[in-house]
Amino acid sequence: MKASAVANKEFTIAKIDDRVYGAFLEHLGRAIYEGIYEPDHPTADENGMRGDVAKLVKDLNVPVVRYPGGNFVSAYNWEDGIGPREERPVRLDLAWHTSESNHVGIHEFADWCATVGTEMMLAVNLGSRGVDEARNFLEYVNHPGGSYWSDLRIKNGRKEPWNVKLWCLGNEMDGPWQVGHKDAAEYGKLAANTARAMRMFDKSLELIVCGSSNADMPSYPDWERIVLEHTYDHVDFISLHMYFFNPEKETANFLTMAEKLDTYIETVAATIKQVKAKKRSKHDVYICFDEWNVWYHSKEQDKKLLGGNSGWPHAPGLLEDVYNFEDVLMVGLILNTFIRRSDVVKIACIAQLVNVIAPIMTEKGGPAWAQTIYYPYYFASIFGRGTALDLKVDSPTYDGRYGDNAAYVDISGVHDEEGSTLTFFLVNRHGTENADVELSLQGFATGSVIDHQVMTHPNLEATNTAKNQDEVKPRKGEGATVVDGKLSVTLPPYSYQMVRVK
Ligand code: AHR
Repeated sequence: MKASAVANKEFTIAKIDDRVYGAFLEHLGRAIYEGIYEPDHPTADENGMRGDVAKLVKDLNVPVVRYPGGNFVSAYNWEDGIGPREERPVRLDLAWHTSESNHVGIHEFADWCATVGTEMMLAVNLGSRGVDEARNFLEYVNHPGGSYWSDLRIKNGRKEPWNVKLWCLGNEMDGPWQVGHKDAAEYGKLAANTARAMRMFDKSLELIVCGSSNADMPSYPDWERIVLEHTYDHVDFISLHMYFFNPEKETANFLTMAEKLDTYIETVAATIKQVKAKKRSKHDVYICFDEWNVWYHSKEQDKKLLGGNSGWPHAPGLLEDVYNFEDVLMVGLILNTFIRRSDVVKIACIAQLVNVIAPIMTEKGGPAWAQTIYYPYYFASIFGRGTALDLKVDSPTYDGRYGDNAAYVDISGVHDEEGSTLTFFLVNRHGTENADVELSLQGFATGSVIDHQVMTHPNLEATNTAKNQDEVKPRKGEGATVVDGKLSVTLPPYSYQMVRVK
């Protein structure tokens, strides 16, 4: 199979917002406890945070981490997580039917973010609580001092405010599973009132209102329209969530979920425009895709853990998807979609970061390692920063369950002007054929290939485990060349590649 593409320096999509490579950590399963925090672990620092996990996170250069939920936030009292640890209450977490020790709260999370070099993106509880809780939490986190909540923060050991800019107004409020679930109008009014109060404190906050939990929700896409009609001028982003699954083991169909993602983004971008026009507003709202990942491998195990009379365990192993090589392709396609939609998707968070549907796994007292999907996320986060190129791609296509005209060769391109580097991320969705790709590079002062990484595996179901951590990992590619302004590269069947040219 042959494919070609044109990359022209003048044809760009947008400057990619670095925050599109963000992540998410929820008080769920072993994400926090035994994930980032394990005081007895041999690598734990003075705050009880695992050094091995922090290293893997740091390597990813994650720009922002959303916290503390997720479904968890909709019945969370943030005040439970402050003050002396031994006095913090144990609470029942209704979302995941577990016990929450509150040993980690905002202070511990903020310190961890500083350690790994990331920004906080905080969510307020608009399920069981509302405006009052949000304004108090904001005052605690961002006010310098001289008020009740800011002085309490200082008393609890943190003098400087954290100055968190990004705030989520609840989580998945369209979902009947959510504590305090609301219809679009109810939620829209509450979110607008909460946003107004938060903006009275600080006009420069960046606020994120809840969009749909997925594109199959019966309320989608009216939810977005109604919520934005209530909130448009008070918020900066609307959040979207989507999880990808392949229980039937139909790879070709699975990989067309990227087409569904693209349509979802396109539809919500159109809804934003519609509401903007209706409101005669000059303000722009963008998409914050704050939960995305493959999620299905652990469903059966979770049914057992969550079903029946499972009690209220603390930090059980929930949502522990073990990712395979096939998921590398899916994650590569998702990230390519975000790069190509960087004009409207400004923030995105892989869900989640450690243990719970995550690129990083840990064993209690034992090792931490990179799952298969760590690598495409790593390459995009480290090398996918700059300006997204509007590539003209010509590739054979196929039709699948979740979308038609899916290009077998899926490509995104990023121009880093500062470093004078071009980076291409390529996925071959064909299961049996090589793809010979020729990329015409127009207007760039490019010389040669400076990096070429390839991920292939004879077994789509191959995984990385504690004992075999390197079964699926990138290797240096061979044979990519630049001759007369043309980059040539061959993609083996079902492969992911990154090629960098300078
Ligand atoms: O990320 C796991 C869960 O998925 C989150 O808690 C929720 O927001 C979504 O349904």
